[in-house]
Amino acid sequence: MDINFIKSQFPIFKNKINGKPLIYLDNANSSQKPLRVIDRISKFYSKEFSNVGRSVHSLAVTATNRFEETRDLVKKYINAKSREEIIFTKNATEAINLVASTYGERFINKGDEILITELEHHSNYIPWHFIREKKGAVIKFAKCNDRGEVEIDEIKKLITNKTKIIGITHLSNVTGAILPIKKIVDLAKTKNIPVLVDGCQGAPHLKLDMQELGCDFYAFSCHKMYGPTGVGILYAKKKWLDKLPPYQGGGGMIEEVNKDKITFPGSPTKYEAGTLQTAEVVGFSESIRFIEDIGIKNIMKHEKEVMEYGLENLKKNNSVKIIGNPKEKGSIIAFTIKGIHPHDIATILDEDGVAIRAGHHCCQILHDKVGVAATARASLGIYNTKEDMDFLCNAIEKCKKIFEK
Ligand SMILES: Cc1ncc(COP(=O)(O)O)c(C=O)c1O
Repeated sequence: MDINFIKSQFPIFKNKINGKPLIYLDNANSSQKPLRVIDRISKFYSKEFSNVGRSVHSLAVTATNRFEETRDLVKKYINAKSREEIIFTKNATEAINLVASTYGERFINKGDEILITELEHHSNYIPWHFIREKKGAVIKFAKCNDRGEVEIDEIKKLITNKTKIIGITHLSNVTGAILPIKKIVDLAKTKNIPVLVDGCQGAPHLKLDMQELGCDFYAFSCHKMYGPTGVGILYAKKKWLDKLPPYQGGGGMIEEVNKDKITFPGSPTKYEAGTLQTAEVVGFSESIRFIEDIGIKNIMKHEKEVMEYGLENLKKNNSVKIIGNPKEKGSIIAFTIKGIHPHDIATILDEDGVAIRAGHHCCQILHDKVGVAATARASLGIYNTKEDMDFLCNAIEKCKKIFEK
């Protein structure tokens, strides 16, 4: 695989940051976009734009076809059973809110339990918190172990006959742990408990197969997959789509409206109220093609190699503490450096063109558990190389020297 060729497809890397070449290690936050995605959006606006699913004029039909083609591509990419199971949202956060709100409204009552984990991003906690407040439900947190993983036994221990849903991350955006989703889903099935997977970090880095995984809901954001901002995807198993009520009301999601009665069509229309992110959805088709051209397995292999090289070198530095040491790990490295605040680390690294993130990464429960308010985080994408890891390690050394003075 020619990473230089792949990297050359991303216009952003032609720019200098603070006079230095950009080493972009903030991919868990959002990834950069290849030219073909940018061009696709531009072409759509220049030649094909219209609102979708409404008018019958030629442009509207073309735009609707392009938009729906992305749905077909996503269906195929994640191996969903039907295209109706793919719902466009504005991001993963909205996808999870959609499930928490509609499922919570219909199926969660006082005293019922929602099982999540200490690893969850706030996006997979706060929507459930709203249901806790509204319905008098209870949220249980499966503990993560010292390696920064959640084990199947911990989930098993917490399931009761009041558990109404399990919400769990596929890949932690802090420790990088890849959770045993298939085993958790299989366990949940024996108790008739639906499982929602927060796939925000899973989707860009792991092979997805919804029929194999068997989960009920899978939420992810396209901007972390070399795609546009403003588009998220909710995969929902067909059996839920007829049972759950609409999420938001408005144009484009009704069957018939009169003064005392409104009827709704099936999915996905029922869940896609108002004008959607038309150009961005069309642009995402090129992100999928970009990933498929390289092959997700090649992406996984490359990122793993670069991450392991980086980890090995970072571990040689006695002042660096890596957060978590999971057996199955995605390409995310969160760390602290003794005596230096993560925000200072990120600011100093930025002077050398190295972009990392510092903060709690929307995982305050996990940071509280680890006993720090913030960590620094380097997260990889397909364009990162071992040289980038050398840059990171050198920039960290420089950072240490500045603070030793
Ligand atoms: C694990 C995880 N879940 C959810 C989110 C929320 O994603 P978005 O802001 O795109 O909705 C993120 C974003 O960082 C994430 O890493």
